[in-house]
Amino acid sequence: MPEPALVEGIDVVRRYPGAQGVIAVRGASVAVRPRDFVALMGPSGSGKTTFLGVLAGLDPPDDGEVKWKGRPMSSMSADERRELRQHGVGVVFQSFGLLPALSAVENVELPLRVNGVDLTEARERAEAWLHRLGLETRMHNRTYELSAGQQQRVAVARALIPEPEIVMADEPIAEVDTENADIILEALWDVIRRDGAVLAATHNPEALRYANRVVLFRDGVVEQEGTPQEVAGHLTVD
Ligand SMILES: Nc1ncnc2c1ncn2[C@@H]1O[C@H](COP(=O)(O)OP(=O)(O)OP(=O)(O)O)[C@@H](O)[C@H]1O
Ligand SMILES: [Mg+2]
Repeated sequence: MPEPALVEGIDVVRRYPGAQGVIAVRGASVAVRPRDFVALMGPSGSGKTTFLGVLAGLDPPDDGEVKWKGRPMSSMSADERRELRQHGVGVVFQSFGLLPALSAVENVELPLRVNGVDLTEARERAEAWLHRLGLETRMHNRTYELSAGQQQRVAVARALIPEPEIVMADEPIAEVDTENADIILEALWDVIRRDGAVLAATHNPEALRYANRVVLFRDGVVEQEGTPQEVAGHLTVD
């Protein structure tokens, strides 16, 4: 028997209504188990970001279901959803989603402040994360004063600081060089070390050195799933 999934999308469908009426995800099922590092790959526009948003509980599926530790998210109370957002799932957005009025360190400490951690401790932990990600000299800059790669690292620190059980990272190494990609992937690996899981949408084969599974999306469905070796033949550079 495989270990129960932390999060599981079952036949997920997600549409964007509007003039064009796009069906971005058209029946995708993925289960992420403890200690899984899943690379979500596939061409631009294949539905990776949309699927991550549904699995993270940010957007409801139009059809199908998302389960968190076996419980349908649609049946969770407001308190349970809040708990999930605060401690269960950490999200790194493709567009970072940093608050421009705040400095880098203030962005990173924010989730801890929301969780009720006092300012001194939150600041110490945020500074430690930014040191680890090589941003010690940029901590007090507003995020719009940072390069894209630096903003990406701030976004990673902000997702990881509450020590979520699963981190869903959308292109977490798209903007950084190989050295910083390793630093970020290594930081994501911390979640695996404490028996959590990582689901990372990525175009970068560098991530395959860390992933135990690859889920290959195409046109809103899972085209293939397996170990990096099994899927290697299907990967195209896009
Ligand atoms: N807000 C939106 N409104 C309408 N259509 C959208 C919206 N967001 C995404 N789409 C469409 O949904 C489909 C899937 O987009 P999505 O962003 O999930 O792809 P992706 O695999 O993450 O691509 P990329 O690799 O470029 O990040 C695309 O056809 C896209 O144009
Ligand atoms: Mg995307």
